[in-house]
Amino acid sequence: MSLLQALNWRYAVREFNNTRIPETLINTLLEATRLSPSSYGLQPYRLALVRPDSLRARLLTHSYGQEKVLRSSHLVVLAAETDIGDHTVERYVEALCESRQLTRADIAGYVDHMKSALAAKTQAQRQQWACEQAYIALGNLLTSAALLGIDACPMTGFDAAGYDRELDFAPLGLHTVAIVALGERSPEDHSATQAKVRRPRESFVLEY
Ligand SMILES: Cc1cc2nc3c(=O)[nH]c(=O)nc-3n(C[C@H](O)[C@H](O)[C@H](O)COP(=O)(O)O)c2cc1C
Repeated sequence: MSLLQALNWRYAVREFNNTRIPETLINTLLEATRLSPSSYGLQPYRLALVRPDSLRARLLTHSYGQEKVLRSSHLVVLAAETDIGDHTVERYVEALCESRQLTRADIAGYVDHMKSALAAKTQAQRQQWACEQAYIALGNLLTSAALLGIDACPMTGFDAAGYDRELDFAPLGLHTVAIVALGERSPEDHSATQAKVRRPRESFVLEY
């Protein structure tokens, strides 16, 4: 499929069939998501692949009846980090120096700049910033899934606090942002036949 074919093919699937998506494809999708860009490259979020049905059944109780949390091939949870500061920058700097054979001295000014930029935000703003970065990964995941021919349903209709508890996120310093059910659309899914609704180009793109 071309890019636009894939984006027209995809829709938010409400009912999946029982097909299991092969692990190799899922791994490609996770890798595509890992490669998402983020502000300064700091990646203040993680992705959880939830496998056991028992855990997915517990998550369903916090999902406002969205059965696809359990009835889909795979469930992915995107979680933002809750504790963001100098250590977030340090983690990146370590990887940066190693990957590009740089010394701390080479990038001292840049490190200070990143730390100051985060320090200038309030705790709530840092949290918001981390969620925004996670949403970039979500967008990338959805587009990549479409290109790979994997059906998906992004969801924010769930109780994040309940998810955080079930996934034991507090000790990991994580907070649930969005979830995605993956699989193959059921022929009975009513959403499959519904026309796409998007703002027309004229009222979407501002051209100067
Ligand atoms: C961040 C986000 C949250 C969403 N939450 C839900 C949800 O909780 N349940 C659901 O069935 N669809 C959810 N959707 C799907 C949207 O309703 C759907 O993407 C939108 O109507 C556009 O339609 P399409 O994706 O089928 O083209 C969500 C989509 C996004 C991007």
